[in-house]
Amino acid sequence: MTNLIPALTQDELKTLVGHAALRYVVPGEIVGVGTGSTVNKFIDALATIKDQVKGAVSSSEASTARLLALGIAVFDANDVGELAVYIDGADEIDHRGHMVKGGGAALTREKIVAAQSRQFVCIADESKLVQALGQFPLPVEVIPMATNRVARQFTAMGGTATLRMKDGQPLVTDNGQHILDVTGLQITDPLAFESQVNQWPGVVCVGVFAHQKASVCLLGTAQGVKTLEF
Ligand code: 5RP
Repeated sequence: MTNLIPALTQDELKTLVGHAALRYVVPGEIVGVGTGSTVNKFIDALATIKDQVKGAVSSSEASTARLLALGIAVFDANDVGELAVYIDGADEIDHRGHMVKGGGAALTREKIVAAQSRQFVCIADESKLVQALGQFPLPVEVIPMATNRVARQFTAMGGTATLRMKDGQPLVTDNGQHILDVTGLQITDPLAFESQVNQWPGVVCVGVFAHQKASVCLLGTAQGVKTLEF
């Protein structure tokens, strides 16, 4: 008789890393919470130990709604000091812990909460691990009046920027801004790239997380959860 174990689906891998992240939650403290389908698994897992944490600082209206619905208190980032840990997903992560984020349009608040935290624990399925950033269209949050000018700056770099749409209208972020998704970029030096694009007038936040890189990645693989440390 063969003993074949069926491969885990991407959704099951997300559940696995969402649960694995609980070991980084410090009892009695406030935890930084990211955004996305992987983080939703973490929030669901966090609900099972909610009596052991003080609450969360959230990176989006969507995560806030999920946290509150599960009975987890949500604090304003301005009302708390440094957080021990921030837990979030990624669209891409390289072997040094640099990430592309913002597929869920929450990159600006994600970067703020990450900057407020001592440790960034990235939770991701193995499809997110890349040799070099740049295959996933890079999200950039922009102030609407700067959209076309910022898009032209990306064109000059060899990229193609597309305004993200929702229901036939430009998507509006939690901060009231728009998102450009940029393809065709070679992000060979993520730190320098992030610093450069952040300085362009009208850019609110670029989705490269190199200054706020992950310190740990819990990667969901066919062999289980792998822990990568950077
Ligand atoms: C949201 C993000 C998410 O972390 C990223 O898009 C990954 O999402 P998912 O866990 O759904 O794959 O940056 O702005």
